[in-house]
Amino acid sequence: MESLSTIIVEHAERVGLIKLNRPEAYNALSRTLIKELLQALKLFESDPSIGVIVLTGGDKKGFCAGADIKEQSELSFVNAYNQDYLKDLNDGFFAIHKPIIGVVNGIALGGGCELAMMCDILYASETAKFGQPEITLGTIPGAGGTQRLIRAIGKSKAMHMILTGETISAKQAEAAGLVAKVLPAEQVLVVAMETATKIASFSAPVLAMAKEAVNEAEELGLKNGLHFESRLYHATFGLEDHAEGFQAFLAKPKRAAQWAHK
Ligand code: HXC
Repeated sequence: MESLSTIIVEHAERVGLIKLNRPEAYNALSRTLIKELLQALKLFESDPSIGVIVLTGGDKKGFCAGADIKEQSELSFVNAYNQDYLKDLNDGFFAIHKPIIGVVNGIALGGGCELAMMCDILYASETAKFGQPEITLGTIPGAGGTQRLIRAIGKSKAMHMILTGETISAKQAEAAGLVAKVLPAEQVLVVAMETATKIASFSAPVLAMAKEAVNEAEELGLKNGLHFESRLYHATFGLEDHAEGFQAFLAKPKRAAQWAHK
C-alpha cells in the first residue's frame, strides 16, 4: 500500500487494525481519508491471514467528527452531486465479507456516527458520544444516518437525534442497541481486539455467511430472510470446516476444531 497520511494500519494475530489518524481535524472524513480507508479495507479483505477488521479513531481525538467541513464548504451543489465518495464509502463497506468491529473511543458525529454504523459490531468507550449534528449545519445526514440509525435504535430516538442534533452517551447508545459493549476508555480497544481475535479464530467462510445472513435481514422480508438463511445454513454443509467442527464436537474426548477456512 502507498504511504498513508490519514490512517494507521496494523496487523495482529488474524486481525487487521485501522486507526483513523487526522487528530488536527478530529479524524474528519476528508477525501484522502476515505480513499485510504477504502484501500485498507480492500487490502485486509483480500489477505487470507486476516479474519476480522477493527476500525477505531486514533488515541487523541475520539472516533470521527464526520464529513470534513472545510472541504465540504468549498463544494457547489453540482460538485457535491457529481462526487461519488459517499456511494464509494457505503459500497466499500458492503464489499467486505469479513466482520468489522468499530471501536468508538470518543466522539462519533455526523459522518463519524454513520461510519460507526457501517461496522458490524460496535464497542464504545465510556467517554463516547454519538450524534447526527448535520441539522445545525443546515444539512442532513448523507452517509446512511437517516437509514441506519432508525434500524439501530428505532424511529423516535433516531428522529430525535437527527432533528435536534443532540448527542447520546455511550450508555444511552448501549441501552438503545446501537452499541454492543461500553468499556473504560483505556480498555475498550484491548477488549475489542480480544473479541476480534476470538471471532477470527472461527472458520472464515462460515463467518462470512453468518454476516451475510444477518445483513440480509435488513433487505428481505421475514419469509425470504428465513429462506435465505436456511440456504446458507445448508451451504455450510459443503465446507471442510463444517465436517471438522462436527467431528471435533463428537470426538471422545471432545477436541478443538482445526479450521481450514474452506
Ligand atoms: C473539519 C473539523 C471537524 C470537521 C472538528 N474540526 N471537526 N474540521 N471537519 N468535521 C477541526 C476544527 O475546525 C478545529 O480546527 C479542530 O478540529 C478542533 O476542533 P474544535 O471545534 O476547536 O474542538 P472542540 O471544541 O474540542 O470540539 C470538537 C467537536 C467540534 C465537538 C468535534 O469540532 C465539532 O462539533 N465538530 C463538527 C462536528 C460535526 O458537525 N460533524 C458533522 C459534519 S457534517 P482548527 O484548525 O480550528 O484547529 C457530516 C455529514 C455527513 O458529517 C456526510 C457523510 C460523510
